[in-house]
Amino acid sequence: MKSIVATAPGKLILFGEHAVVHGQPALAVPLTALTATVTAESTLPSSGLHILLPDSRHHHTLRVYPGSDTENALVYTAQLVLKTLGITTPPDLKLILHSTIPLAAGFGSGAAVSAALAQALSQALGHPLDHETLNGLVYEVEKIHHGTPSGIDNTVIVYQKPVYFVRGKPLETFTIPRPFLLVVGNLGHATPTHITVGAVRELAEREPERIQPILGRIGEIANQARTLIETGQPDLLGPLMDENHALLHELTVSDDELDQFCAMAKQAGAMGAKLSGGGRGGNMIALVNEKTAPAVQEILKQAGAAKVFTTQVG
Ligand code: MEV
Repeated sequence: MKSIVATAPGKLILFGEHAVVHGQPALAVPLTALTATVTAESTLPSSGLHILLPDSRHHHTLRVYPGSDTENALVYTAQLVLKTLGITTPPDLKLILHSTIPLAAGFGSGAAVSAALAQALSQALGHPLDHETLNGLVYEVEKIHHGTPSGIDNTVIVYQKPVYFVRGKPLETFTIPRPFLLVVGNLGHATPTHITVGAVRELAEREPERIQPILGRIGEIANQARTLIETGQPDLLGPLMDENHALLHELTVSDDELDQFCAMAKQAGAMGAKLSGGGRGGNMIALVNEKTAPAVQEILKQAGAAKVFTTQVG
């Protein structure tokens, strides 16, 4: 067998995080600057199925046995692929994983690694999974770490297209006729998504009269943003980003650092800024153009962001 390579990108949520868990629409795009890559190679007969992590500190190798091991997301992914394909004896293969997506940083590293691994393994077995099956499989793996995620992260990563996502509804992609630039600031620490999602759920249960309108308005913002993007007016997204951020603050998932980073990005010339993803740490995004990008990047670096980069959306 020739070696087989599968890749999956990271993700950025543009609008609608958290509200999407409660049935509102959200927009997410693949982040192609960061990728997970898995190479499948055949090995000696009877050697079994192994996952190699050459970039990890101890050059980890994981053995995949038949069954269901939810302790390890990678092993579980491989086991789900075998189960889906009705294969009871693991094949003699090694799956070599490399990823440039920082772990637990809000860029969808877990979903990307699972997607690339499942694709490489199923292709090596001669039965590449279709997008829908792959998406369902990656969602199963996501549930281990994220509780009951909306499914937006795995969907944008598996389909590798901008998605307009409504929980439980068929997939809708959207077009970006005029690309735009975002500066991404990563804070270097993050709160597990199931914690922030749980906090919003509790708040929504405790104070439904106050919280439901906030969630509803976030959904409207996502719809308005989609229209602006699809009609080639991304420069007008700034105020919607600011408002979405303020509403996420109301939902308690922003924090002082995210608020400060967004305010500083605006001072440096960004047209709008918001947190992106789970919040309480993690990432923020700022809408810039070629002129303002360097100053916005610089101010975020000076403010202590762990990783800052500019990415083109579309
Ligand atoms: C996390 O990337 C996005 C959240 O909306 C959680 C989810 O949708 O499952 C915070």
